[in-house]
Amino acid sequence: MTTTGTTTGTTTGTAPTVAVPFADCWIGEEARDAAQRVLMSGWVTTGTECLAFERELAAYVGADHAVAVSSCTAAIELSLRSLRLAAGTPVLTSTMTFCGAVHAIEHAGLRPVLVDVDPLTGMPTPETVARAARSCAPRAGAMVLVHWAGDPFDRTALAEAAGLGTDRLVEDAAHALGSTWAGERVGSGAAVCFSFYATKNLPIGEGGMVTTDDPDRADWIRRARLHGMSQDAWRRYLPGGSWRYDVAESGLKANMSDLQAAIGRGQLAALPAWQHRRSLIAAEYDARLGPLTAVQLPHRPSQAHSTHAWHLYAVQLLGDAPRDLVALRLADRGVGTSVHFIPVHTLTHFAALTPPGGLPGADLMFERLLSLPIYPRMTPGDVDHVATALGDVLEGTDR
Ligand SMILES: Cc1ncc(COP(=O)(O)O)c(C=O)c1O
Repeated sequence: MTTTGTTTGTTTGTAPTVAVPFADCWIGEEARDAAQRVLMSGWVTTGTECLAFERELAAYVGADHAVAVSSCTAAIELSLRSLRLAAGTPVLTSTMTFCGAVHAIEHAGLRPVLVDVDPLTGMPTPETVARAARSCAPRAGAMVLVHWAGDPFDRTALAEAAGLGTDRLVEDAAHALGSTWAGERVGSGAAVCFSFYATKNLPIGEGGMVTTDDPDRADWIRRARLHGMSQDAWRRYLPGGSWRYDVAESGLKANMSDLQAAIGRGQLAALPAWQHRRSLIAAEYDARLGPLTAVQLPHRPSQAHSTHAWHLYAVQLLGDAPRDLVALRLADRGVGTSVHFIPVHTLTHFAALTPPGGLPGADLMFERLLSLPIYPRMTPGDVDHVATALGDVLEGTDR
């Protein structure tokens, strides 16, 4: 299984027995049965399963509308395109994010402007957002921000700091399916983008969704995800469908298939139990790793009635042992780890986006970050194995 972070190898050069891999992709029985049903139905591309998945996911997150697409990257690009900003308009985004989110800004014809993060939280602050916004000429037209690791952010405060309305904020919720902020599920905003990539909290394999409270935006994205063809063009090959369609604007090929949607619906039924399991694993890690002075536990939501989705359990290593060495020693003990993220400005393609003065908060955090395995099928024994191995490595008993 590949992950979108940097997954560690081994010091020995031989493949270790991986007792606890970093990631897991579990397609449950209900989802497998649903996939079989669609494969037998004679209709596998976008259709009624997509419509049902959109309805069910919208209900789960408390959104008015949902549009199923091919990936979270496409969801972000379509959300940005729906704002109809002039080509080259600056768009603020965190440097502590996945490269795909920044590609989406570029692919929408816009100009990414990188924002630094607080090294404790992994998130931009009102100050770092305001500083980046002041550097923009012309003014920033939008902002794309990730709910990093599944830790929800305050969208009103950060949009305000950027001088933008919340309708100009595109939330990258690739990690945040199941997160809540002040009692509301992440997903009830103007444009919230989810991923169903193989390792995400709701794995389909590939897929994405935009949720929005704006019916016009939902309609626009619904057309734009399928070549810009008029609304019901997906029905044109169904009995009773018409071959006639119009294309009023350029669009993407970024629709979701019914096969993916059926798997998603099956997985959604299991999601509440999986989220509960993730929170128990996080609590067990907290209890085991909290006493280690060289470990800083992940940040928690700063607002009451807010919940972390625990897509990632990312600790920071504060001791003398270099992160990469710790990761290699853990690999030798059969523990898979990863790093989220390599700050975007340190990647060759994006290096020119580094602002004068750099992005020191992200640089500092990057040196220390280590993501530990967290997924519903981890057993208490797996969690114990990871915690014990990390404690041993850091205490030096394993050096
Ligand atoms: C924060 C974040 N944003 C966006 C993406 C892109 O998701 P997708 O693979 O569905 O395009 C990922 C994927 O790993 C991610 O972690």
